[in-house]
Amino acid sequence: MTDSTSVALLSTFLHIIAWSFILRVFTNLLSNVYIYFVRAPKNLQKLGSWAVITGATDGIGKAYAFALTKKGISVVLVSRSEQRLQTTAEELCAKNPSSTIKTVAVDLAAIADSATGAQNNGWASLQQAVSDLDVGLLINNVGLSYDHPEFFDQLPEGDALQMIQLNVMAATKITRLVLPSMKARRRGAIVFIGSAAATVLPASPLLAVYGATKAYLDQLARSLSLENMSAGISIQNQAPLRAIRLAVRSLLVHSPSHVRSKNGIPTNAT
Ligand SMILES: NC(=O)c1ccc[n+]([C@@H]2O[C@H](COP(=O)([O-])OP(=O)(O)OC[C@H]3O[C@@H](n4cnc5c(N)ncnc54)[C@H](OP(=O)(O)O)[C@@H]3O)[C@@H](O)[C@H]2O)c1
Repeated sequence: MTDSTSVALLSTFLHIIAWSFILRVFTNLLSNVYIYFVRAPKNLQKLGSWAVITGATDGIGKAYAFALTKKGISVVLVSRSEQRLQTTAEELCAKNPSSTIKTVAVDLAAIADSATGAQNNGWASLQQAVSDLDVGLLINNVGLSYDHPEFFDQLPEGDALQMIQLNVMAATKITRLVLPSMKARRRGAIVFIGSAAATVLPASPLLAVYGATKAYLDQLARSLSLENMSAGISIQNQAPLRAIRLAVRSLLVHSPSHVRSKNGIPTNAT
């Protein structure tokens, strides 16, 4: 093969790669424009008349409660404080007076005794509250992160276990609570609120347990999605990005020693 033939072949090869890349970017762009701006939103009421939202009295969970009641979906609000649940229910009714709302006060970090597996009263109330409802949507939102970035071996054991109980155990148990009836009705959707700390960032140093619990949710959602696709149930993990901001802030400012010294904790404390 002559030199000029080799150069021509190489040039054709590079052109093919470049055009494949451009085509891929373009089709991705078109598909995202279609999904976010053109495609009609799903009619969530067709999934069922009720949604269960954990961690529903603040932040993302409360925003879901407002969005869903606006669409005419009845909601079961789940969080610890009875008072905050009542206030949230009143706020929702003030905004959408026809809303139907149930509240369940339960500490989801303590629904099962890790040693005996015995379940607390709050869990029984939640089971009872959803037992007769046509639950079409579960928003597994509740979650706990670090109050400051910390090395894994310096994180108090109780904090680590509480994160696992709330982020992993609670989501697993509630999903197992509602999934069978969704399967029986052959409709429903389950949303996990994960975190970019697990799905966008390659690692979550100083937030290791949090990142690991959110990685669990991501993999659980992917696997359950495939398991239940043929049963007509959509399952997905959403990964909010604000975690990136926290991570960046932690790299720039909030080192563990910085936070400890700021809070008057000896820097070698465990
Ligand atoms: N905000 C972010 O930037 C961000 C970024 C990435 C991922 N996320 C994820 O998004 C989810 C929501 O975060 P958020 O910041 O919106 O939450 P948030 O504003 O802190 O609200 C937490 C909610 O959960 C309830 N809650 C807390 N501990 C509970 C427990 N042990 N049992 C039952 N309910 C409990 C709280 O009510 P009570 O105190 O009354 O119980 C409240 O309704 C979490 O899973 C989080 O990891 C958030």
